Order: sequence, then C-alpha cells, then structure tokens
Amino acid sequence: MSDKHHKAGHSVRDAFTSNLGMLAATLGSAVGLGNIWKFPSMTGTNGGASFLFVYLACTVVVGLPVMISEIMLGRTVKANAITTLRKLSPKGQPWGIVGISGVVAAFLILCFYTEVAGWVFAYIFKGISGSILTTDPTIASAAFADLISDPVQSIGWQWFVIIFVSIIITFGISKGIEKVTIKLMPILFLLLLVICGRSLTLPGAEKGLEFLFAPDFSKISGSVILMAMGLAFFKLSIGMGTMMTYGSYFKNSQNIPLTATRVVLADLLISLLAGIAIFPAVFAYGFDVSAGPSLLFITIPAVFASMPMGHLFAVLFFVLTAVAATGAMLSLFEVPVAYLCEARQMSRKAATLTTALLIMLLGAPAALSSSLTKDVKVFGMNFFDLFDFLSSNLCMPAGGLLICIFTGWVFGKDRFKAELSNHGLIKNEKVVDVLFFLIKYVSPLLVAIVMMNMLKVF
Ligand code: TRP
Repeated sequence: MSDKHHKAGHSVRDAFTSNLGMLAATLGSAVGLGNIWKFPSMTGTNGGASFLFVYLACTVVVGLPVMISEIMLGRTVKANAITTLRKLSPKGQPWGIVGISGVVAAFLILCFYTEVAGWVFAYIFKGISGSILTTDPTIASAAFADLISDPVQSIGWQWFVIIFVSIIITFGISKGIEKVTIKLMPILFLLLLVICGRSLTLPGAEKGLEFLFAPDFSKISGSVILMAMGLAFFKLSIGMGTMMTYGSYFKNSQNIPLTATRVVLADLLISLLAGIAIFPAVFAYGFDVSAGPSLLFITIPAVFASMPMGHLFAVLFFVLTAVAATGAMLSLFEVPVAYLCEARQMSRKAATLTTALLIMLLGAPAALSSSLTKDVKVFGMNFFDLFDFLSSNLCMPAGGLLICIFTGWVFGKDRFKAELSNHGLIKNEKVVDVLFFLIKYVSPLLVAIVMMNMLKVF
C-alpha cells in the first residue's frame, strides 16, 4: 500500500520510498560539516573527552526528543514546516511563526554553509594538484588565506556548490534526495574507516585517542555545556523545521523513535570516527589540537602532508567531507523549496531556482567576508559570523524551545502517544512516556537556559 498522499490541486506528493531511504536521508542531513569540521574543532578547543561527555548528555536529553517530535509533527500533517505548524495550531495562535523562523534559518545557514562547503570542494582540487599540501603550518595558512581572500574564488566555489545541490533537489525526494543519500552514506562511512586506519597506525597515535576518550572532568564549565548544547542542535539538524520537512516524507508505518535513535547513534559514530581520523594524526605530528575552525583547512592538510601516502589520504578526506556536506545541504534546501512548492504553488524547478538565487544573493556578503566586505561589521561581526550567530544562537535554539513547548503543551500527550506508536501498532508506551516528560519539562528548560546564556542575559 502506498503512503503517498493526495493534495488538492497537486498530483501525488513525493515521499521517501523505503525504510533505508528514510534512514539515509535523515542521517545524511545530520551528518555534515558539523561532524567533520565543528565537532573535532570544538572538541579540540574545549578539552577533549570531557566535552564529548557533555555533548552526549545534551544529545540524549534534548537532541533525541526534539528530533523525534519534529519528525512526528511533520509526518502528522505531511506538509512543509510552516503549513505543518499552522495546521496544528489552535485557532488564533501564531505557531506558524516557528515555521517561518525555520525557513529564515535555513537561508541563513545556507549562506555560510555553502561557503565552507565551497572551500571543501576547492580543497579536493587543490589536494589533487598538491598545492595545499605542505608540512609548514605558515605556508598552509597562507594557502587558505589565499583562497578565502580571493573574491572570485570565494564566490565561484560557493556558486558551484549551490548549483550542484540545486540539481539534485530538482529531481525531488524519492529520485533526488533519497537516491543520492543512499549512495553517499556508505561511501562516506567507508572513506572515514580508511582514514581512521591510516591515522591509528601512525606512531604516537595513542595520545590522540587518550585526548578523545579519557575525560578530565575538571575541564567542564558553564561555557562548555553551552557550546555542547549548541553543537547538538546544529549536528542533529533540529530546531528549524528540517526534520519536520523530512518527517513529512516519512511513511505512516515508520517507527519514528527507532529511526531517530538510529540516526543519533550513527551520527555520533561518524563524529567519533572523524575524531579518531583527526586527533591521533594531529598528535602524532605535533600539531595544535586547539586550532579551532582552521583545523580542517590548515592543520589537516599539514598533517596529511607529513604522512606517507598523505597526498592520497588528503584528497580522500576532502571528498568525504564534501559528501557529508552535500547530504546536509540537501536537507537545508528542502525546507524553503517544500514551502515554496506547497504554499506558494511553485513548480519544484521554480522553487529550487528561487532558493538558489536567494542564497547566491544573500550568501555573497558571507562569501566575501574575508575580501570585499571584510570591513563591514554588523553588531561587531562580519557577515559570515553574523549569519552563523543569527541562525545557531537565535533561530535554532528559539525554534527548538518553541517546538518543545508546542509539542508538550499544545499538541499534547494523547496525540504524541498515538502518533509515535503508529496508533497502537507499536508497543512503546514506556519509552514514549519518558520522551514526553523530557519534551514537556526538561528539554525546554535546558534550552531556555542555554539561550539566555548565549544572548548574554547572564
Ligand atoms: N547537521 C548538519 C551538520 O552537521 C547541518 C545541518 C543540516 C543543519 N540541516 C540543518 C543544521 C538544519 C541546522 C539545522 O553539518
């Protein structure tokens, strides 16, 4: 029996066709630059294993319940994020705003995400030609500065990425997103394992493992907890309607809590593997683990240049990162595209084109923030940091908080239980009780504290 669903005036609504496809697409959204760029650099700068420990706690207590709620809300209505929230709102309550904030956040994230992804694609080619491979960190950082301070290259690589992702998006859900992520996820996993093998067999690798897995709890502080919570939101693609949009393509027979748990575990595994691929090598060659965001573009090439067969592994590493970023960008694109198609009656091609053009336009100031617009500061930040700040520190936590409140206090326990048990077909009452308690009381409280702190309320 097909789950596809007829909408007035539209032909059959596209959807994921298999359990594996749903898993691959959702995991593809979660796994991205967050795992390979943000996770290692933040773990590196925040004390290693103890940060990992806090991150794990945030994922279980907040990340998983919010992800499950979002997918569930999306599947209940089977529409884009804005329509979903509007339809579920009691009369006169403006919950649609949460969906709107999600669409805005998707644009903001895409503006800088496509730029970082552009650097990754550029590094594949520069890796092949060997121009970024040097063991000297000063030369490596000059090579990176060359790329980001050249307006033509910055914009060019960003557009390349936007066009690449747009092409996949125009093919739709089952023939585009699902087909591509089902192929990409195993490739990503395999490449990561190969690089882990290389990194672990380097002399002195144990130090890196110790850094990643032996916690020093004295390093946990308020700001570490806040950073970990923010990362959990970003990594799991929650708080802004991405999971709601993907949930709307889920089949009614899909076990949502189980799928979400698998996604969270697999996403965690991939982050850990990224850590295992990076830290032992960084320690083995005596580089600085706390390099921060430049870890990926300066330290990593230098680390690879230091090792036997490093040229090959460097290229593989950037291919892998590009693969991860692609799955994540597909999910970000789908949020506005789904909205434009369904609520603004655009064709999928027109919606994709509109989205792509808007990102090119809005993303240009971010792409140029190390060149032409580098002296333009808004609230003391360049455009790149501004978009990151507005989305990660404002839209996503606010969206996450409101989604918790909506699910816990408006949608309510009865419907929550009915939807997550597929109307009684799955026996998961106890688990769902715990999830509901988390989503109603615990998660919103934690997110509210994090948000106030991010906004420097205290
Ligand atoms: N989760 C992705 C990553 O780790 C990024 C991402 C995709 C995202 N969709 C999102 C982040 C929605 C926030 C919201 O790189």
